[in-house]
Amino acid sequence: MGILDGKRILVAGVTMDKSIGFAAARFAQEQGAEVLISNFGRALGITRRIAKRLPKEAPVLELDVTDEDHLAGLEAAVREHVDGLDGVVHSIAYGNPETLLGGKFLEGPWDDVAQAVQVSAYSLRSLAVACRPLMGEGSSIVGLTFDATVAWPAYDWMGVAKAALENTSRYLARDLGPDGIRCNLVSAGPLKTLAAKAIPGFEDLESMWSTRAPLGWDETDADPTARAICALLSDLFPATTGEIVHVDGGFHAMGA
Ligand SMILES: NC(=O)c1ccc[n+]([C@@H]2O[C@H](COP(=O)([O-])OP(=O)(O)OC[C@H]3O[C@@H](n4cnc5c(N)ncnc54)[C@H](O)[C@@H]3O)[C@@H](O)[C@H]2O)c1
Repeated sequence: MGILDGKRILVAGVTMDKSIGFAAARFAQEQGAEVLISNFGRALGITRRIAKRLPKEAPVLELDVTDEDHLAGLEAAVREHVDGLDGVVHSIAYGNPETLLGGKFLEGPWDDVAQAVQVSAYSLRSLAVACRPLMGEGSSIVGLTFDATVAWPAYDWMGVAKAALENTSRYLARDLGPDGIRCNLVSAGPLKTLAAKAIPGFEDLESMWSTRAPLGWDETDADPTARAICALLSDLFPATTGEIVHVDGGFHAMGA
């Protein structure tokens, strides 16, 4: 008996088997869920290959969260596989590493900042609205953040985009709560994924974590993050919304 038995879940943002979305999809299947995954553009081919590495091969949908046609067609695309959704995972972010990250805060051009905010924050709203007709009472949306309450080395404009994501999640909690739909985020410590590798200087954050997190931190293991995502997707948090659950080895609670 799994915590997600009988649940239908879309995980948006799976490229590699290192992706947090992949770990979430795998654990969700292990817990009894029917899982669909999505990605966009050229990475879609990789996702189709990676989907075969899940315990059960998952259908792969094409979804660019900035493409209005994809968003409009998402309900029909999901209904080709399942007749509704009990859970949606938003595991998506992008910021141009050359102009926005790695100490480029004072130079970051608006067009690139706008793209980062659209892909990384506004898209949580876009995905929620596109999936709303598929979701009913007791459904759950979960996104991923990197603690945006403080400034970090290297993270720069992605930190600003994450601050926007964190508040987008609270407003979605407000507006979808009356339909019985929850919206929460998991704030993960640094994990060695494609997105993280693209951030110049991200390894400095990783080394800080290994010394300061009281529980320790393994940046190659996305499983603890996946477990928290799945707990929030499950019926175990029926009265929790607008929340941010830290999965960071306890780093956020330490002063030094
Ligand atoms: N890796 C970390 O250290 C870390 C820590 C905390 C939070 N996060 C967050 O976790 C989430 C997943 O990132 P990850 O680390 O697994 O990296 P990842 O690169 O594996 O996943 C990011 C995904 O976003 C997708 N994406 C980018 N632009 C898109 C668009 N326009 N439409 C649809 N999909 C798009 C990418 O194709 C990719 O699948 C992100 O929100 C990231 O910010 C990561």
